[in-house]
Amino acid sequence: MAVLKIRTNPDPVLRKKARKVNSIDVSVNRLIDNMIETMQESSGIGLAANQVGAPLRIVVIQESDDEVLVLINPEIVETVGERTVIEGCLSVPGYQAEICRAETVRVRAKGRHGRLIRRKASDLLAQAIQHEVDHLNGVLFIDYLADKSQLFKTGSRPD
Ligand code: NI
Repeated sequence: MAVLKIRTNPDPVLRKKARKVNSIDVSVNRLIDNMIETMQESSGIGLAANQVGAPLRIVVIQESDDEVLVLINPEIVETVGERTVIEGCLSVPGYQAEICRAETVRVRAKGRHGRLIRRKASDLLAQAIQHEVDHLNGVLFIDYLADKSQLFKTGSRPD
């Protein structure tokens, strides 16, 4: 496995819509292993493939200390509610902002062995799924801000 370089804003790869994975082959599995290692090395909660320069619809999310959720071609099929969250991103290092996310989501995807995954998620997991699926569509959390002055340095909450 290898730790990959994380692309940061304004790298154009972050703005491209990632393409569907057609076959979960050796190279896709290697990419997933490397994404997991890169996420864990960076203490991130999630990582999308285009953040490491691979424009494919794959995300990995650290669900708990020893569980990683791998979603291939994820689709959010339902969102319910709204809540204000503080969000950051490995591709926007050092900054966070308050944005609005759905409270719960239902996601459909393939797992790394090709089986169909259907998950209902809430709280931080729902937030992470929305954030990572946004990445696959070329969207960053800063796009939800009316004004870049709404960004604050990580660790310093706004008044
Ligand atoms: Ni991100």
